Amino acid sequence: MSMTEQIKDNDKKVVIELQNVKRDFMVGDEIVHALRGVSFTIREGEFVTIMGKSGSGKSTLLNQLGCLDTPSSGEYYLDGVSVRKMSKSQRATLRNRKIGFIFQNYNLLPKTTSVENVELPLMYNPDVSVRERHERAVEALKAVGLGERLYHKSNQMSGGQMQRVAIARALVNNPAVILADEATGNLDTRTSFEILVLFQKLHVEGRTIIFVTHNPDIARYASRNIQLRDGRVISDEYNRDIMNAAEGLAALPANSDE
Ligand SMILES: Nc1ncnc2c1ncn2[C@@H]1O[C@H](COP(=O)(O)OP(=O)(O)O)[C@@H](O)[C@H]1O
Ligand SMILES: [Mg+2]
Repeated sequence: MSMTEQIKDNDKKVVIELQNVKRDFMVGDEIVHALRGVSFTIREGEFVTIMGKSGSGKSTLLNQLGCLDTPSSGEYYLDGVSVRKMSKSQRATLRNRKIGFIFQNYNLLPKTTSVENVELPLMYNPDVSVRERHERAVEALKAVGLGERLYHKSNQMSGGQMQRVAIARALVNNPAVILADEATGNLDTRTSFEILVLFQKLHVEGRTIIFVTHNPDIARYASRNIQLRDGRVISDEYNRDIMNAAEGLAALPANSDE
């Protein structure tokens, strides 16, 4: 499927469904309404950015989507399973099997090779042998362009390379959804474009991606954008004119790294 023709495909499987999700926090005697009733459905193959100013509820929402937290009320179905009714350990298993996380700070084990970092999510899966684990990690690293750096340690790599390792680690379990939290937040412009090219490649390959950011430029490369304000969805729009990150990268001035 080309990037421009995917607007809304109702034949695709629903991967994420939120129904009136609320999340309150008690702070002293006050209740903070971080999410005030969020509802949306995300289908397989969508590349969704979630945007909003600081304090709008992005991280709280991402913690819900990533099964790190549960709603105060409302329902969340991940790949058809109700997360609200699960125990903490059930949620941990679901998270490990269904979700690939990519963070701003990469969250790699320091002084550990790329292959070992990428193998990590498979360690908890008794169905995957040592050999298969290694093969899948190598395959994932090749897919993100790091076939030449399999045994480099994380502290010997640039930010862009570390983020590629993190993306490979997110892919290795073949998750239902990839959750990215400001994944280009620590990278310079050129490296951000390189990582965006990679996200668009994953999108074209049919991956489901949710990318939380405060940077409005990122939304131009995704297929849909959801905006939050004060814990509510204030807009939810499909992108009819998805920009091509590879073209953006090619158009950057040769010495630009700001
Ligand atoms: N663990 C928490 N305890 C208390 N208040 C919280 C907690 N997490 C978030 N909040 C509050 O919820 C609101 C939304 O926060 P957050 O989801 O972090 O927004 P964003 O990621 O968009 O900056 C803010 O008012 C924040 O102070
Ligand atoms: Mg946040």
